[in-house]
Amino acid sequence: MTKNRAWEFTPDSGAFRLECVERPLIEPGPGQILVKVGAVSINYRDLINLRNEANRPVGGKIACSDGAGVVISVGTGVTAWKPGDEVAGCFFPQWQDGPFSMSHHRTDPGGSCDGMLAEYVLFDETGCVAIPRGWTVAEAATLPCAAVTAWAALMTRGQLRSDETVLILGTGGVAIFALQFAAAQGARSIVVSRSADKLNRAKSLGAWQTVDRTATPEWDREVWQLTGKQGVDHVIEVGGPGTLGQSLASVAAGGKIALIGVLSGFGPPQDSLFPLVTKNASIHGIYVGSRADFLAMNQFIEQHDFRPIIDRRFRFEEADQALSALAEGEHFGKIVVDYSL
Ligand SMILES: NC(=O)c1ccc[n+]([C@@H]2O[C@H](COP(=O)([O-])OP(=O)(O)OC[C@H]3O[C@@H](n4cnc5c(N)ncnc54)[C@H](OP(=O)(O)O)[C@@H]3O)[C@@H](O)[C@H]2O)c1
Repeated sequence: MTKNRAWEFTPDSGAFRLECVERPLIEPGPGQILVKVGAVSINYRDLINLRNEANRPVGGKIACSDGAGVVISVGTGVTAWKPGDEVAGCFFPQWQDGPFSMSHHRTDPGGSCDGMLAEYVLFDETGCVAIPRGWTVAEAATLPCAAVTAWAALMTRGQLRSDETVLILGTGGVAIFALQFAAAQGARSIVVSRSADKLNRAKSLGAWQTVDRTATPEWDREVWQLTGKQGVDHVIEVGGPGTLGQSLASVAAGGKIALIGVLSGFGPPQDSLFPLVTKNASIHGIYVGSRADFLAMNQFIEQHDFRPIIDRRFRFEEADQALSALAEGEHFGKIVVDYSL
């Protein structure tokens, strides 16, 4: 056990490609644990880094933020974990609780630091959480970014109540966790997707209403009608500048838009923000969440009987293909690199 295979970002024509390299295995230092990774899940953010769309200097760093595995050994002073424990890494390992600090941007795996797409990774003992009881490591690998983001948006910041309505854009990783959390909370969800097939699957997961944005490009009008011209209390806004106008048209008086994603790009909003004013609504910028959010979410998951939706699994040797599959956008829920395959 002296080598550690890992997928690194390698500079390629102004962007990056993934390259599988061998690194020496490092023993855990004081306060650290060594984890044998069992699975990694792919997020759109990994594509953003691969394509160099956010100009982040990820060259030479191990890719991907989300993974889970089993503790192999612990450094001196570690009390929280022992060999054999199953853990998932935190997106912001040093954001333990409370308000966000800009310093946390220096610690995100697969971005500022080495990520999870390796056979072995080191964590600080406070940089991970136990996986939910009864979940497999591959299931738990879906949680750190997509699920914690949906949780922070709806529950921590949104304070979602069972008598409220949630608008969810798309059927990707963040969206499907938001749908599952909303359904478990007893709230009503409206899912907007370009695919009728995906909308049927969303219904089977508890969507109250669905809107096909291919058939109905002005989906905000449909949302308005479906809510009896009241609008929705929460929006899971993963589209960004190209969809924010329709989200603003869909939101209720006093409603909350969780601004999460950039699927339509990083530019300025394409529509006026004035409806925010006329509706006394608010936009919450969401960037994943803290370790405390992750722990609260896992408690909720254990209290409610649902599992993550894993659309496709790839072998470790196929990890670059897993990112390509996410880019194709045909998935529903999560794509996972499962090392047990
Ligand atoms: N701020 C944060 O903390 C945070 C955390 C996680 C993700 N994000 C961001 O949130 C977004 C989603 O991430 P993800 O990992 O869940 O992505 P994903 O799994 O790749 O899901 C993307 C899905 O969104 C839908 N979609 C794509 N383009 C769209 C558009 N222009 N308008 C409406 N829907 C669109 C599609 O669903 P259909 O085929 O069903 O239409 C697509 O499959 C990304 O921009 C990501 O960077 C931000």
